[in-house]
Amino acid sequence: MKTLLPLLFATSTFAADLVQHAQEHPQGDAAYSFDVSALKKDTRDLPIGVFDSGIGGLTVLEAILTIDAFHNETLQPGADGKPDFANERFQYFGDQANMPYGNYSSAGRTDYLRELIVKDAIFLLGRRWFDPDKKTFRQDKPPVKALVIACNTATAYGIDDIRAALKTWEVPVFVVGVVEAGARGVQSAHKEGAVGVLATVGTCASGAYPRVIGQTLGLAGRSVPTITQQGSANLAGVIEGDPAFKESVTERCDMDVRALVEAHQKSGVASPLSTVVLGCTHFPLVQSEIDHAFAALRKDAALEKLIAPKIAYVNPAEWTARELFRELAAAKIQAKDAPTAKDSFYLSIPNPQRADIPLTADGGLEKEFKYSRSPGELNREDSVNVPMTSARIPSTTRKLIETKLPEVWRRLGK
Ligand code: DGL
Repeated sequence: MKTLLPLLFATSTFAADLVQHAQEHPQGDAAYSFDVSALKKDTRDLPIGVFDSGIGGLTVLEAILTIDAFHNETLQPGADGKPDFANERFQYFGDQANMPYGNYSSAGRTDYLRELIVKDAIFLLGRRWFDPDKKTFRQDKPPVKALVIACNTATAYGIDDIRAALKTWEVPVFVVGVVEAGARGVQSAHKEGAVGVLATVGTCASGAYPRVIGQTLGLAGRSVPTITQQGSANLAGVIEGDPAFKESVTERCDMDVRALVEAHQKSGVASPLSTVVLGCTHFPLVQSEIDHAFAALRKDAALEKLIAPKIAYVNPAEWTARELFRELAAAKIQAKDAPTAKDSFYLSIPNPQRADIPLTADGGLEKEFKYSRSPGELNREDSVNVPMTSARIPSTTRKLIETKLPEVWRRLGK
């Protein structure tokens, strides 16, 4: 996908302070910096970094861990009975303290969001993490050799910034993002009719999916279908079982699918929605509820003609896994042997060393504070990144991982 135009912003000046700050600390001896020399050696045995705004990206990690779409020795397409990444180990990071990313655009804070996303990449590239037991920062985490942006919103707003930053830092690390991969999924799945995108409000506001789907189909010599988007502010939270939301998953899916179909109706295009991109990390977990919602709307005479008899769903996670395999092979940095060390998982929490940060009753960053911050204040660490333990994952989310993401659950070791 290297031939595509930048995903969001042609000339990026955002996160510039952060990029420069990391450049000024090439030994990784300050917050938001990393040891550049560690990535200029043989990186084959380093882990692959995967990040998301929270735990949703574990759906992408599950797809990566379980996919068998290639022959591992010959690199040819086709299953060989072995997981494609059997020799690789992974390092996952969820920016739980600062999520949801999908709501920064409506708060007018996409500039801060873009800085957060570059910080996520810097964390994975570096060695620094916070040990909450010893209450101190440590510098012994392995850096990663490649980056997967598992979050749709983070890909939409941050992939160009990360690529530009890696270039500035002269670090040979590649980045794969779910939006570009999802567009490949559309190229493969879409036959005729219109395309629908269900995502966060932020992803839809960025226009990344319509733009990249258009570029991908255009470069393949295909005509570009009508693309209708529907941003949901609540569905990801409802799926996680967040008690702040009162509706059930079924009710929320019904509302969002209806809103998508009605938006498509308003566009005045007669062709039915036939391909739907599940453009948020959480949505593939509720594909059957979404499909039921479409089925119910087919019974509505006013909307029936706007929905194809069978919808093709695109799960960007699967396509991201394929993209990662290809990029690793192209960069010739596949691990040589089965890993000796385990995967590792981290998430962010409000900085316990800062007494001045407003917190909610359950210890999260207070919403108003979260969405009022500006970029460039690099002497302040509002959150720190700690190992992901069972106790740090809300119980409803834990259940979701255990039941729906068994390979991740096994590797989490909880
Ligand atoms: N992971 C986000 C995404 O895929 C959804 C949750 C959020 O808004 O942070 O867009």
